[in-house]
This record gives sequence, C-alpha cells and structure tokens, in this order.
Amino acid sequence: MKLPIGLQTPSLLQTLHLIAQPTEFLANCFHRYGDTFTLRALGLNSSPVVFFSSPQAIQDLFTLPAEKFDFAKATHVFQPLMGNHSVILQQGRSHQRQRQLLLPPFHGTRLKAYGQLICQITEEVIAHWKPNTTISIHHYMPDITLQIILRVVFGIEPGERYRRLKELLSSLMEDITTPWYSSLFFFPPLQIDLGAWSPWGHFLRRRQKIDDLIYAEIKQRRVEADDSRQDILTMLMSARDENGQPMTDIELRDQLVSLLLLGYETTAAALTWAFYLIHSSPEVLEKLLQELDKLNGVLVPEVIARLPYLGAVCSETLRIYPIGLICVPRMVKNEPLQVGNYKFDVGTILVPCIYLAHRQKQVYPEPEQFKPERFLENKFSPYEYFPFGGGSRGCTGATFSMYEMKLVLATILSRFRLSLANKKPVRPVRRGITIVPSGNVPMVVTNKF
Ligand code: HEM
Repeated sequence: MKLPIGLQTPSLLQTLHLIAQPTEFLANCFHRYGDTFTLRALGLNSSPVVFFSSPQAIQDLFTLPAEKFDFAKATHVFQPLMGNHSVILQQGRSHQRQRQLLLPPFHGTRLKAYGQLICQITEEVIAHWKPNTTISIHHYMPDITLQIILRVVFGIEPGERYRRLKELLSSLMEDITTPWYSSLFFFPPLQIDLGAWSPWGHFLRRRQKIDDLIYAEIKQRRVEADDSRQDILTMLMSARDENGQPMTDIELRDQLVSLLLLGYETTAAALTWAFYLIHSSPEVLEKLLQELDKLNGVLVPEVIARLPYLGAVCSETLRIYPIGLICVPRMVKNEPLQVGNYKFDVGTILVPCIYLAHRQKQVYPEPEQFKPERFLENKFSPYEYFPFGGGSRGCTGATFSMYEMKLVLATILSRFRLSLANKKPVRPVRRGITIVPSGNVPMVVTNKF
C-alpha cells in the first residue's frame, strides 16, 4: 500500500541525521512534506517509519487497541540499558500488569508524601550557591532530580552506595549524550566487547558496576524486610503475580533502572528549559515572581502545586520543548491498519510526533513563542498537547514529574534571583533520550533581597 511521501535517502544517513540534529531534521521534514511523512530513520535497513502530528491522526493512534501494535520491535535501543523485563519492552498482559504496579506510587496521597523530600533535596543542593557567582543550571538540575529519584524510587539513603550509584549513573548519562555513543544503541553490529577500552566493552563494565550496587541494595532489603517503607522498590518487592510469585532480582533490577533512566534526565532537561525560557522572557519572569513572592518563602508543597501561573509555565515549557520529541514507535502487527487517510501494511512503524504536534499553527498561534498564558486561556485536548505521550503507553511518571518541576522551580526562585549569564539564544541538542539547551545555561546568582 502507498506510504505518505518522505525522504528517499539511505536509512543510515537518516538515522544519523535524526540522532545528531533531531529538531532541525523533524522541522525540515514537516516543512517539506506536511504533518504526515515517511522516513527510514530507525537504524540500518530500517522499516518505513511514518511520523504523524495532526490531532486527528494522534487520536487514531492513541485510541486504537494496543494489540494492533508491536511496541517492542522499535524499542530495542533501550534493551541493553534497561533489560528484557523493562516495562518499556513489555507487551499485552505483562505490560498492563507492570503499569498497574507502577502507576499508583506516582499518584495521589503517595505523591504528596514525596513533596517535602523534593523541596528538602533542592534546598540541600542549592545551599552551596554563592551570590554573585555563575552556576550552570544544566549541571545542577540532573543532580537534584537524580537524588530525588534515588530516594523516592529506591528509598536509598545518602551513604557510600548512594554516592557510587549517583556517580556511575551520571557518568553513563554524560557519555550517552555524544552522538557517537548513542549510535551504539541504534546499531547492534557496533555492540562488540573488545575489552575495557572499546566503547561497548566500557559500557558493559560500567553497567555491571551499576547492577552490582542495585543487587546489593535488593539483597539488603530482602534481609531487612521492612514493609513500612514508602519507596517503590519495597512496593515492587511485595507485589505477587497471578501465581503468587514475587518478582525475581533481575525483574526488579530492570524496572528500577528503567524508572531511573526514564525519570531523572527527562525532568532535569525539562527544568533546565524552564529556567532558560523563564529568564529569556522578562514579562514571564515578573509574573511568576509576583505569584511566588506571595508565598513569603514558606514552601508548602500542596500550595505550590496549585499555583496557576507556575503550572502554566511548566506546561508551556513542555509544549515548546517536549524533551521526548516522539512517543514510543509502534509497529503494525497481524493485519493492515487504517490511520487517517492511509492504510498501513504489517511491519510499518507509526510514530506520534510530540515535537511537531506542539507546533501546529492552528492549535498554537506563534508556536515558537514562549507564552504560558495559552494554558490559562485554553484547554488543549490530549491529542493536541501530550508531552508525556498517551494511550496505553503514556508516561507513568507524568503527574510526579509535573509536581517535581513545580516544587524545584518554586524552591529555587524563592531563595535566589537568577539571570542568564549569556544572552546568546540556545539551540536544542540531544542528550541521551532527551533534548536540552546547548551550552550548559550559565546563570548568575544573586540574593533575593
Ligand atoms: C518531564 C519529565 C518526563 C517526560 C517529558 C516524559 C515523557 C515520556 C514519554 C513521551 C513517554 C512515552 C509515552 C508514549 O509513548 O506514549 C514516557 C514513557 C515513560 N515514562 Fe516518562 N517522562 C518524564 C518523566 C518520567 C518520570 C519521572 C518517570 C518515572 C520515574 C517516567 C517513567 C516513564 C515510564 C515507565 C514510561 C514507559 C511507559 C510504558 O511503556 O508503558 N517518566 N515518558
């Protein structure tokens, strides 16, 4: 069946282009071909990959039954990092079961329990900031969000294991930022262990060190068997499947690493963009500070979470730079499938494109402008605005990370005044699975009063 028009260049070139310049590449395709186009950009000899961004097509994709798609075929890039049992690689019943386990701890009263901890970790990290110095927001945000996830997901307390895990995970993420290193995950033939100095050999050895620390934590928890703990590891350890069996250590490890890797860089990137965008727009900064100043420095998580302008700032940040750019690609399975005006053959990969959907001019006039007011004046449908994806694969950490973003922003902006040290506009660049502002976002810190 006929595919939507698109690029005819070799799949290797397209994949490298998408890795190296993701936003320019997608925007160019959109300008040339419109809101539905075909690429071959998922590795060597990639199957056709069709990108969608119109609200109607997104609705079709999000509401079609999950059984119509094979999600795991296109997520092989995550396998070496997250393991075979990761929620992101599951399908059907096993996927539903894991989501049922993972969703409750990130919502409702469980979420509220983490509020104080988020503010406290943020205060601890910024306690080192000195007035009239320049700091890099891009370095501080992952430090804050990694500590939050280590304590909320693992329930691991600061100490030697915490320190080593934090160090190894940050350096792994640092390496994944380079296009060369990320290419290793897209091209399985490059995944050869030629010793500790070869790129793949180095990756495997570092992964082993991370796994050893995680298994040591699991072992210790099994011995302690303290059911009163609130963290997600405790909850996963007490879960039982339909045959009454608990998760194995390998299953636990894969879920934990997935939550860590999906949860901390993403929120850190979103916060980095938020600081950059807020401080690039004097009117937004003023309105936000006016709202925050009413708190008089008293940080009550539930009050902060309800501040309307702060909420709009976070939503608009994730509209303009949605961090993930695309949803999990889905491959048509078993029988041809109708989406919009097209019928797709089995094996075609379909991708809801968040980045382009958030730039639809008819939904978002002046889409390149940072205007939080859009979210105060309008309500967008889940097919127009979906920074956390949607349908059966939507992000399980969405509510948690919005909450976290608001608390971290409010804590920092209630303690210090910041300004951009460099007035040059930044560019979106890839960092692992996220996009971040180029150039580390240096900011000058001054006292609030
Ligand atoms: C600003 C922060 C974040 C953004 C922008 C984000 C975005 C996304 C997106 C776009 C997806 C794919 C959804 C789809 O294909 O429909 C996803 C999946 C996922 N995210 Fe997030 N995420 C964020 C934070 C988090 C956090 C904090 C966690 C957990 C600690 C998390 C855990 C997950 C998981 C487990 C999935 C896979 C869900 C599944 O396959 O069923 N994310 N996220």
